[in-house]
Amino acid sequence: MTDSTTRATARSIDGKSIAREVRQAVALRCAALAARGQPPGLAVVLVGDDPASQVYVRNKDKAAQEAGFQVRTLKLDANTTQAKLLSVVEELNRDRAVHGILVQLPLPRGLDAAAIVRAIDPRKDVDGLHPENVAALVLGSEGLFPCTPLGCIELCDRAGARLAGRRVVVVGRSMLVGKPLALLALARDATVTVCHSKTADLPAVCREADILIAAVGRPEMVRGDWIKPGATVLDVGINRLPDGRLVGDVAHAEALATAGAITPVPGGVGPMTIAMLLANTATAAQRLSAPGV
Ligand code: GUN
Repeated sequence: MTDSTTRATARSIDGKSIAREVRQAVALRCAALAARGQPPGLAVVLVGDDPASQVYVRNKDKAAQEAGFQVRTLKLDANTTQAKLLSVVEELNRDRAVHGILVQLPLPRGLDAAAIVRAIDPRKDVDGLHPENVAALVLGSEGLFPCTPLGCIELCDRAGARLAGRRVVVVGRSMLVGKPLALLALARDATVTVCHSKTADLPAVCREADILIAAVGRPEMVRGDWIKPGATVLDVGINRLPDGRLVGDVAHAEALATAGAITPVPGGVGPMTIAMLLANTATAAQRLSAPGV
């Protein structure tokens, strides 16, 4: 037998098909709300003409429509003032047909994104970025939580990677992914370590992980020999190399020989973000449409 036939190869975690299943489940929740005369509404606000943001917003709009949401995409030009954007958000807060509000980030220079996020009604903050939702995540109370971290937890669940009692190592400490993900994993009874650029002997810490999650935005930084044999690896990174190739934060070919299961890039964590945005919007709509709200 040749070496290539005896070497272990990690199972691929198919984020695309798992995201499709999540979207189908959300579509059923959406249809149930619509049947009660309360079709869930999502408002997506795009300011300026950043090409990447335009693609993201188009994809969110399409997926939301397919799941049965009433979608309103508001496009504002790049020189929109802070006051104007605040008034748009306040109007969406008041609109009872809108249950989810998403302001696409980054905003053009000159606009204060943190102040805009604070202006969103926390019950409609389907990105989970409002300080009240951040607090709810820390406190373990009801709220809306960031979509990519929720997607990672959903991938673990559906890939059969148990969290309770196991070592989860998160590489990256961003507000959008690393920090909320650590809190979500902790809430699921994992033993969590958060690493970053100043962590001493990062490879050794990663090697302790039963579930290793890379969210640093550095192409192929996590090498195959940083992975404990059989570990589950989630690669949140999406990096474009100078030669045009799209790679994650994990050296995928190396990791295949060590990991038990791993997400590909693209087609792993990426598709889960939109699926969880739709799940958050359905949740927000259910809560806002409850009697007495
Ligand atoms: N830009 C990149 N990712 C995101 C996200 O998850 N939400 C928003 N609002 N903007 C983004």
